[in-house]
Amino acid sequence: MVRSKYFAGLSGLLKTATLENPNLVGQILELNPQEETDALIEKLEDSSKISKYSRIRYVGDRCLVCNWSEIDKVDDKEIPWKDNGVYLISGGAGGLGLIFAEEIVQKVKGAVLVLTGRSTLTSEKSGRLKGLEINGNKIIYKQVDVSDKVAVSILVKEMLDTYGTINGIIHSAGIVKDNFIVKKPKEEFWEVLAPKVAGVVNLDLSTKDVALDFFIIFSSGAAVVGNPGQADYSAANAFLDAYAEYREILVDLDQRSGKTLSINWPLWENGGMKVDEESEKLMMSRLGITPMLTSTGINALYRCISSGEVQVMVVEGLLKRMRQKLISSDETSDVFPKTMTNSANRNNNESESVHKKLSEGLVQIVCKVLKVQEKDIDNNSDLNDYGFDSITWTEFANRLNQEYELDINPTLFFEYSTVNSLCDYLIKEFPSNFTYMTQQQDLKAKEEKVDEETVPTTINMAAKKKKQFKICEAYYK
Ligand SMILES: NC(=O)c1ccc[n+]([C@@H]2O[C@H](COP(=O)([O-])OP(=O)(O)OC[C@H]3O[C@@H](n4cnc5c(N)ncnc54)[C@H](OP(=O)(O)O)[C@@H]3O)[C@@H](O)[C@H]2O)c1
Repeated sequence: MVRSKYFAGLSGLLKTATLENPNLVGQILELNPQEETDALIEKLEDSSKISKYSRIRYVGDRCLVCNWSEIDKVDDKEIPWKDNGVYLISGGAGGLGLIFAEEIVQKVKGAVLVLTGRSTLTSEKSGRLKGLEINGNKIIYKQVDVSDKVAVSILVKEMLDTYGTINGIIHSAGIVKDNFIVKKPKEEFWEVLAPKVAGVVNLDLSTKDVALDFFIIFSSGAAVVGNPGQADYSAANAFLDAYAEYREILVDLDQRSGKTLSINWPLWENGGMKVDEESEKLMMSRLGITPMLTSTGINALYRCISSGEVQVMVVEGLLKRMRQKLISSDETSDVFPKTMTNSANRNNNESESVHKKLSEGLVQIVCKVLKVQEKDIDNNSDLNDYGFDSITWTEFANRLNQEYELDINPTLFFEYSTVNSLCDYLIKEFPSNFTYMTQQQDLKAKEEKVDEETVPTTINMAAKKKKQFKICEAYYK
């Protein structure tokens, strides 16, 4: 049971793999280890029919699926820090570490904040830390690599010897090294995993006998929805989420103390980790998520604590789209794959007409992105040869998503890199998105269609992971 929680960390990797190659579908199945082969095969087949669920648990004869639900409004804001408290923030001199260090010193007096990182502090950072020593609070920076077990246990011992206790931990250390799976060297994968995976285990084990008030882990939305180029980072964060669940079990067994909370943050507007503008747009068009304001993030942390949940995903953006994309409906019709109108069922004339119109549309978009002439594009030539790079591929994906109401990632273009192959793929996979082309509708009329979602209102929402797996009634016979 506990080991299965570790493996749940793989879900982030599988989700990213699917985004990088849509032909690949991954699911984590939690099964009885004594399962007979026939029953196992049956469960594998059954699970493949509900591939939209990435984590499925079979308990006896029941099939449970893991899902998200929106958190009820939490009125109380629980502030976890207190006067004279002693806090350890791993990665504390990074973007979010400093935001929360600043928040803590404004809220309490006489606290000690020990921030860790691998680097020596620059004079600019030292100055910033000095500036945080207000209200009698003390800030100490320790050059400690959190993935180093011995170094972490020495640091914890030093803190206990010097201050007598540690009241809370924020595990914020992390790095990113974006690269698609097909190009990712093994070393890079381990480098990204180290601060999160080894880091959380080291911090937890070295404080297992300390009477903590909280153990807060900074995870990422990438663990939940995946992110192209971030297979390692998604896996590392999904591990953090699973570890939080595991630690909370130990708390119930009186083997640990303090509330465990893993927060799946979205991109922060003023965090240390950044993405390029086109990737931001893609996140907005695919999921409705916009970069989160600092004030939203700080409030969200307090609300997450007050919710009493172990894992909370926080998002800010277009509420309607986020609900649609992040919270699956459990209705019967959604559980079973919908029967899609297959383009093969259409008559040949219609298919040709759709293909022709779509390929013309694709060429126009290619030309807008690359600023080249339509006459220069050959529908069977590799588009990479026209000068696409990672940014322009992302822009191309953004424009296609917007124009045809799709939900595709730029990694798709690795496999479908000519206008014709891309056209065939899109028509096969998203037939209903192009039916209007056979109905002689003018593209312009479609563009003018009012879509309330395109009105840029910013609303924030917090979604929580349901603690219990839900019975997949419709699916279960
Ligand atoms: N910012 C966002 O938008 C965002 C979104 C989702 C999730 N998150 C998560 O929130 C956390 C903080 O993000 P951030 O924006 O503050 O990133 P950041 O500015 O890059 O800070 C991360 C810090 O972690 C430290 N670090 C890395 N490896 C370490 C190790 N092995 N031991 C000790 N310290 C280590 C780095 O310092 P050294 O290089 O000196 O070690 C760095 O200061 C990360 O875990 C990230 O995954 C952030």
